Amino acid sequence: MMIQNATSVSETFELMKTKLGKVVPESELYVKSEIAFEINKIKKEKNAVILGHNYMEPALFHSIPDYVGDSLGLSRIAAESKADRIVFCGVRFMAETAKILNPNRMVLLPAKIAGCSLASSITAEDVRNLKQRYPGVPVVTYINTYADVKAETDICCTSSNAVDIVNQLDSDMVICLPDEFLAKNVARETGKKVIMPGDAFKRNTPKESMVVWDGKCEVHEMFTVSDIESARAQFPDTVVVAHPECPPDVVEASDYSGSTTAIVDYVAKSDAKRFLILTECSMSDNIAAENPDKEMLGLCSVRCPHMNEITLEDTLTCLREDRYQIELEEEVRVKAKKSLDRMLEMSK
Ligand code: 13P
Ligand code: SF4
Repeated sequence: MMIQNATSVSETFELMKTKLGKVVPESELYVKSEIAFEINKIKKEKNAVILGHNYMEPALFHSIPDYVGDSLGLSRIAAESKADRIVFCGVRFMAETAKILNPNRMVLLPAKIAGCSLASSITAEDVRNLKQRYPGVPVVTYINTYADVKAETDICCTSSNAVDIVNQLDSDMVICLPDEFLAKNVARETGKKVIMPGDAFKRNTPKESMVVWDGKCEVHEMFTVSDIESARAQFPDTVVVAHPECPPDVVEASDYSGSTTAIVDYVAKSDAKRFLILTECSMSDNIAAENPDKEMLGLCSVRCPHMNEITLEDTLTCLREDRYQIELEEEVRVKAKKSLDRMLEMSK
């Protein structure tokens, strides 16, 4: 039975222990199972759906979401949901995306801020300035941005479809914002030369080029090639997987790179027994819980403080009090929706 359908606290606890016994101490599961049971009860009473990003802590990730996944997968589910309330256990830009795509639902984020270093690295004015500087060049914007930035954008992308979207655009030159590393990784795969916004592009612009911004994910920028080398020296059988927000040299030194869901699927299908997971550490625990025969190595001194703002405790308050509701200016929402719709259309 799914933990979400348990009919008592003790049943919730037993199911959580079976799933998470190896990654969460039992004393913690006692407390968490009580909260999870209460959330699942109120969720049904209020006709809410809970979406959980792959980075949620294991006790939350495995106990309350109706759907889990990466930014692309959860956007699709949010767009089609008929529930009265969509509770987004993820960060603000994800909850905003749900509201942009499905404005008639109440969209709730369990934490007031839950930001993202990439989303806060660029403003709508920055995008307008770039468009003025590179007129007619299509702007591809990572979903890790706020609604006003999406509204200035031609098309959104996520870590799972960025290469595909750039390849589908009928343009030699592309502006790809705001993640410098993701853009550089995509530029390598699509054969484009990187141009930083400060470069004097007009004198010497290569035909196939990509204008990038200098935003960084504060988690992924910390991983280095020497982390990979030392893990391989200690455990020669380690398979290294890295999210494309990692620096390009880290992605190149890895065995596989993909979105969070692509990483989950890759580990599940692989015959290897040991993996170094270069992304938010909670995801290593979530993968470990699903693959008890495989060992996950995670670099857990680097955590996403924004994702970690989302707790079971705050999700319970969120559901009880309908807080924090995502509200967007209608004009911005409608413009932002065009760039998301285009992305969903192009990544079927
Ligand atoms: P995914 O779309 O791969 O889930 O990535 C979202 C994110 O914020 C990674 O840091
Ligand atoms: Fe943003 Fe990085 Fe956290 Fe993902 S891991 S939400 S990109 S700060």
